Amino acid sequence: MTPMIFDHPLIQHKISLLRNKNTGSKEFRELVGEVSMLMCYEATRDLPLKEVEVETPIAMAKTKVIAGRKLAFVPILRAGIGMLEGVLSMVPAAKVGHIGLYRDHETLEPVRYYCKLPSDINEREVIVLDPMLATGGSAVEAIKMLKEAGATNIKFMCIIAAPEGLNALMDAHPDVQIYCAAKDDKLNEDKYIVPGLGDCGDRIFGTK
Ligand code: PRP
Ligand code: URA
Repeated sequence: MTPMIFDHPLIQHKISLLRNKNTGSKEFRELVGEVSMLMCYEATRDLPLKEVEVETPIAMAKTKVIAGRKLAFVPILRAGIGMLEGVLSMVPAAKVGHIGLYRDHETLEPVRYYCKLPSDINEREVIVLDPMLATGGSAVEAIKMLKEAGATNIKFMCIIAAPEGLNALMDAHPDVQIYCAAKDDKLNEDKYIVPGLGDCGDRIFGTK
């Protein structure tokens, strides 16, 4: 599936602020939340609707509500947590799973350390959250874990993606729709995204 890359001016403006190395943790966290909320608006565009009748102060109205499709958000720890509040503000009834992965600093391979998912994950549309898609190793592994748990309807939402990560994810999981807010130039020799925004987890949580 071709990745959907957002070009909305509000999103692009906020990404410029995220990229700036002088943006501090508090503002950075808020911006990650806001960009995620705006992306979620688009990523949920295909949710089915059903017609209901409500009584307005004036008359009866035939109107539409979301047709009870079950949704789960699954942030990849830790930086994915930064996206959670924004998407939950759009879909407060969604369930939340967590997948813990880190990139081994030497091999750069993803290492699993945690997985807790809603028990009915196989019945839910799943949106995986991780702000950074670099080599793609973490996203590929997280989606593998979700498929092992029975999930079949999976989307992946990131803020910045490298071409290498997009290709790796599309190759490994061609059934997964990818949403990203910016496609950057490349990876550097340490497998950081260029120009990117640095280490997203460290910038969200103020570590380093
Ligand atoms: C970052 C990021 C992704 C991963 C992307 O997490 O949040 O999960 O790297 O890189 P990849 O596409 O090459 O796998 P990191 O491993 O630094 O862990 P953290 O969120 O705990 O800081
Ligand atoms: N993880 C990050 O946080 N940033 C990168 O550029 C690559 C992986």
